[in-house]
Amino acid sequence: MPDTIINHFLDLDRIAPADLRSIIEASKTAKENPAAVDLPLTDKILAMIFSKPSTRTRVSFEVAARQLGGDAIVLDQQTMQLGHGETVADTARVLSRFVDVIMMRTDKAENIEEMAEYASVPVINGLTDRSHPCQVMADILTLEEKRGAAENQVVAWIGDGNNVAQSWIHAAAHFGFELRVATPAELAPEPGIVNWAQKAGARITVTENADTAVDGADCVVADTWVSMGDGDSTNRHNLLAPYQVNDALMARAKPDAIFMHCLPVHRGEEVTASVIDGPQSVVWDEAENRLHVQKEILAWCLRGTAVK
Ligand code: CP
Ligand code: NVA
Repeated sequence: MPDTIINHFLDLDRIAPADLRSIIEASKTAKENPAAVDLPLTDKILAMIFSKPSTRTRVSFEVAARQLGGDAIVLDQQTMQLGHGETVADTARVLSRFVDVIMMRTDKAENIEEMAEYASVPVINGLTDRSHPCQVMADILTLEEKRGAAENQVVAWIGDGNNVAQSWIHAAAHFGFELRVATPAELAPEPGIVNWAQKAGARITVTENADTAVDGADCVVADTWVSMGDGDSTNRHNLLAPYQVNDALMARAKPDAIFMHCLPVHRGEEVTASVIDGPQSVVWDEAENRLHVQKEILAWCLRGTAVK
């Protein structure tokens, strides 16, 4: 048997494009024919640690673990010693003796790094202030189901240059679609992430103009104006008011363009009810796809990567 290295699912820029592609393709196959899926979590336990609320991530991972033959434990950071002074490193070492894979949703990206450094089981990023890679894998699956191969698509991100936007930027480099990010300068994505993507060959533009970003797009994406942990809500609303996705903005996209949103949504803020509840919205399929993709992320993590 060759040695294997642990497959942590931390960020899309750190996973080989071929591996990301294989996760998407396996998700499509398994979604079409769930009965044919292996049970890679048989007798295995997923632990999930949340320091922020969650509906989709929590439920889709828990259902995924059970449907793949395993089980899941949901942990709230505040009721763990982790929320009362125990280090992430010590938590990682202890949990690794009990469970087979750890998913963490946390305020700071550094916490996920520390968890992965000290865990001896795979660690999955279930959202940090910096990224949300599992969400964007479900979004790529949705984009391809609705519109065809990712590399032929133009995606417009409208609003805050937040954690989800930054995972979209990583994805643009690895999946080959054109990404236009329209965001106020004050809320632009980290320049280091944009530079990384451009150097990796991504077709990406960052603009303050939502209209030009959406012109002729295949897919328009929005997210909340105030992410979990963001302060200064009034200022953010003022900055982001010109970035609402409404009927007039959607009309600039292709007539058959789709609208995506990771949810939860604030109707009347980042998107009007007419758009998110209208015929171009695919948000419920997008939410369902969290389950299908998460199964394959878990399977990839547990497989490990063989080293020669
Ligand atoms: N989209 C998403 O991650 O939703 P939850 O916060 O409900 O997990
Ligand atoms: N950007 C949002 C995503 C929620 C799933 C947040 O971080 O709150």
